[in-house]
Amino acid sequence: MRVIEHIEDLTPLHHGALVPTMGALHAGHGSLIERAVAAAAGPVTVTVFVNPTQFGPKEDFSKYPRTLQADLALAEKAGAAAVFVPDASLIYPDGLEAAARESAAWPLPPAATEPKLEDAARPGHFGGVCQVVARLFDLCKPAAAFFGEKDFQQLRVITQMVQRSAGRWGSLRVVPCGTVRERDGLAMSSRNRYLTPDRRDTALGVYRALQMAMSAQRPATAEQLMRETLEQHGFTIDYVAVRDAATLLPVSGLETPCRALIAARLPEVRLIDNMAMPVWR
Ligand code: PAF
Repeated sequence: MRVIEHIEDLTPLHHGALVPTMGALHAGHGSLIERAVAAAAGPVTVTVFVNPTQFGPKEDFSKYPRTLQADLALAEKAGAAAVFVPDASLIYPDGLEAAARESAAWPLPPAATEPKLEDAARPGHFGGVCQVVARLFDLCKPAAAFFGEKDFQQLRVITQMVQRSAGRWGSLRVVPCGTVRERDGLAMSSRNRYLTPDRRDTALGVYRALQMAMSAQRPATAEQLMRETLEQHGFTIDYVAVRDAATLLPVSGLETPCRALIAARLPEVRLIDNMAMPVWR
């Protein structure tokens, strides 16, 4: 497996599969890479870049876990052909101040700004995500890019960005991959490392809340059940929502594919998770 730091070295990997990450890889990333290896005709490149423009001023950019040696081992074991570890100056050649201005003005697809979801809690986040993912697509020229459903809104935003890109990335396919969970249901996340052992059990409240939502026959009931369960576990809720799974628009019934979405905070960590709602016809 190659470790790549220069743009020129990416050329042999063009038209393969891309797995963009911010590092701190876990088994969920491993399954994304394995999925890409199994599905792709070409080589699989994993990118590791902690993107400053998608973090708010009070967020965890500086303490975000950086575990490059372990990331390289995991990527190699999962079958990656290369790991691209760019310096910030390569992603943002005009400097970070210019990058921050560009990210704030990024023309966002509609799924990014749906009220009462991520944008309300993390304004500016999706500008940074779109900016860095677009840059990685420009540099790596993948035929397919693999993203986890754990960040469901991000997946929808990137899918819409590619659909609206008028062929900027050729016939690039965005491939969604199911969330990988611990045995007890906690969705795998790089930020789970912030959980102290006693909070680890509390964190399961997010999974329990989603499971409660699955029994509901109406979106409003599902939202109420999620809210109650999270409050019982001591979470501060950023949002609970049941939305159309494609557009993320609000829904009044569950006759079409919908997604239950949660973002909730414990003192040391903000957790997000989601689940497909059963369709009632
Ligand atoms: O999901 C992530 O890890 C990041 O948001 C991404 C897509 C790699 C962009 O920095």
